[in-house]
Order: sequence, then structure tokens, then C-alpha cells
Amino acid sequence: MAVRKIRIYGDPVLRKMAEPVEAIDDEIRELAADMLETMYANNGVGLAANQVGVLRRIIVVDTQSEEDDPGPKVFINPVIRNPKGAEVMEEGCLSIPDIRADVKRAKEFDFEALDLDGNRVAFHANGLLARIILHEVDHLNGRLFVDYLSPVKKMMLKDQLKKLEQKALAMQAA
Ligand code: NI
Repeated sequence: MAVRKIRIYGDPVLRKMAEPVEAIDDEIRELAADMLETMYANNGVGLAANQVGVLRRIIVVDTQSEEDDPGPKVFINPVIRNPKGAEVMEEGCLSIPDIRADVKRAKEFDFEALDLDGNRVAFHANGLLARIILHEVDHLNGRLFVDYLSPVKKMMLKDQLKKLEQKALAMQAA
């Protein structure tokens, strides 16, 4: 297992669509283990494969909250169905350090994915777990939480985001 480098806002891989996982082999198992380690090393509650530069549909989640089904979870080829309701929560992202903002998303939905053994997992998601899953599945589709911000809020964060973009470019060149 290893902590992988997290891609920062401005890195093109964060804007790409991840591809479905065809077979859960050693490479995928290693990726999932590394993603969990990377998430914990950075005190995150979720991570998508795009964020470590791999375009595969894998997310890892740990709410780290007693009321929200804590513990490490790996979801492969996740699918969100029947989103309902709306809720505003503050979000951050390991790929967008030092920026947090309120984001409105669905409150609950039906969720389906594969686990690392290839078994189908399905449940009704709500609370913090639902919020993290929505954020991470967005990553797999090249979408970031800052995309939801109002034009005013975006203007306020413009300089900070520009700096991150420059940092991402420098990291790519290094
Ligand atoms: Ni994120």
C-alpha cells in the first residue's frame, strides 16, 4: 500500500470521465487500498480515482461519524438512482485545498455499486454518507463542487482557484 499524490484543481484529469471497471483484479485492489490510505493520510472522508490520476470508476468513503455508518468503504462502478429532496451542506475537497463552500444536493437516493469482491451492494443513502457519495461520483464524471457555486461566490474565490491552477500546472511540469 502507498499514499498516492493527489491531483489539484486545474489538473485536466479532474475534468475527465472515468471508465467503468471491467474486472476486479490485483491492480484494482491495489488502487483501492492506496486510495483508502491516501484519503486517511489527508484526513479526508472520500476520494475518487480521478483524484489520484486514474480514470476508473472507483470511490472510497469513510464518514468517520458515528451516526453515519462509519468505516472504510470501496464502491466500484457506483450508480445513483431516484435522487430526492434537497439539502445544503458545506463541502471541501482534497483536490481544492483551503476552499469550503455550501453546496445544495439531493438529500437521499438509491445507491448501487460493486464491492472489492465483486458483490453487488445496494442501499438507500442519506445523511453524510449520501453527501460524500454524491461528491465523489461527481468526480468520476469530471465535476467538482465549485461548479455549483453562485457567480458571486465564484468571483470571490477566483484568485484562490487561479493560484491552485498554477500550482497544478507546476506539479505537472515537475
Ligand atoms: Ni472532492
